[in-house]
Amino acid sequence: MAEQHKLARGVALVGAGMSKFGAFKGKSSRDLFVEAFNEMLASVDQPFDPNQIEALFVGNYSSDLFEGQGHLAPILASWTGLNPLPAVRVEDACASAGAAVYQGILAVASGMYDVVVVGGVEKMTDLPTEKVTDTLATAADTQFEIPAGFTFPGFYAAMATSYMHAYGATPETLMKVGIKNHNNGSLNEKAQFGAKISTLMEARKASAAKKGLPIPDWKDELEFLHDDKANPVIAWPLRLYDCSPVSDGAAVVLLVSEDLAKKFSDCPIYIAGMGQASDGALHDRKELNSIPSARLAGQKAYQMAGVGPEDIDFAEVHDCFTIAELLATEDLGFFERGTAWKAAENGETSRDGSKPINLSGGLKSKGHPVGASGVGQVVEVWKQLRGQAGERQIKRPLKYGLTHNVGGTGQTCVVHIFEKRD
Ligand code: COA
Repeated sequence: MAEQHKLARGVALVGAGMSKFGAFKGKSSRDLFVEAFNEMLASVDQPFDPNQIEALFVGNYSSDLFEGQGHLAPILASWTGLNPLPAVRVEDACASAGAAVYQGILAVASGMYDVVVVGGVEKMTDLPTEKVTDTLATAADTQFEIPAGFTFPGFYAAMATSYMHAYGATPETLMKVGIKNHNNGSLNEKAQFGAKISTLMEARKASAAKKGLPIPDWKDELEFLHDDKANPVIAWPLRLYDCSPVSDGAAVVLLVSEDLAKKFSDCPIYIAGMGQASDGALHDRKELNSIPSARLAGQKAYQMAGVGPEDIDFAEVHDCFTIAELLATEDLGFFERGTAWKAAENGETSRDGSKPINLSGGLKSKGHPVGASGVGQVVEVWKQLRGQAGERQIKRPLKYGLTHNVGGTGQTCVVHIFEKRD
């Protein structure tokens, strides 16, 4: 691996905001983006003039296919009052927003700009699920994979069966990841499925009772999740509650050069490390139990930050499917290869565990508007490091938070490490 250089000058995060994630009939990308942008403006501690902003970078996977709207960045600049600034859309599938953050940091570090806005947005729910599936499938290898019948749930199902076969994890391990992420998401007012699975289960019982139907006798969440009717198989072993949903949403952050950080924020969050890597499609890889681009992006980020996995206090990782969270926590070095499933079963990744993962609820519970998710992860890290995450705030002192954003099955991965300084 080539050495990961330091930034030519430091960069800090001084504002962050997001829309609620969910399904919003009648709202388009621009409406959601404006909501997130306004929340970002309100989050900046010191009064500042938006005229100081010099450029806009927008992560977006496919407004063209989801909404019939291409050339999105200048439209979003117009709706946020940023025209005539340079406005650029960055596309790297589900890692579009992480890649936009990466580009925004480079732009400030280069000295070209002092103040930039980076956002991400996707409006997916105008299309029926089968069309969403087709649209997402264009992020795979459309010559060699899609004609063979693969969809994204199918790809990750193949990774899950391989991982279970290699290391002994079971479908129940995956269910426990979903239960944990819904527990976290139940404390996040921005989450699309912001309820514990136990709460959803009790609601189903109550609804059956109200309709005079037989009341299911699930005794706990796992029994509910094993029920083929309540939790149908999407692509075995992945069931409904192993999948991130189809979502609308936007998230926005403000980046400035390090020397300006304290002028904007009482508690800036600094970029300590970053790494990005690419890879061929899944069919071309040697193994399915790990995502090489994630390992590489993580190593680069650690090298630049001068820290290791043991120094990371918490992380937001790309759990587009529950299996992806297990792979991520191994690829990032939090757990040895083949052991993340045991760590998840033992509660090590829960809010009060040794390595809390996806405190926001992750993509599973918070939602996955694909081109927004990478910036959504940064918003959670910003809140946690500043002690503003409300009921889901980790109680112990925090220094380093990490984000891990995957495009496709790992053709792209972007990792950022954020630091709170005393
Ligand atoms: N988790 C939990 N519940 C979900 C859910 C999810 N991911 N998605 C939908 N639901 C619920 C809905 O609220 C609805 O509940 P209700 O009947 O009580 O109202 C029910 O399940 C059916 O919803 P619907 O929207 O009709 O589901 P669907 O079958 O059309 O879609 C999936 C379900 C899993 C196929 C779809 O969410 C999906 O494709 N997810 C993966 C997206 C993806 O691949 N992203 C990119 C990753 S790389």
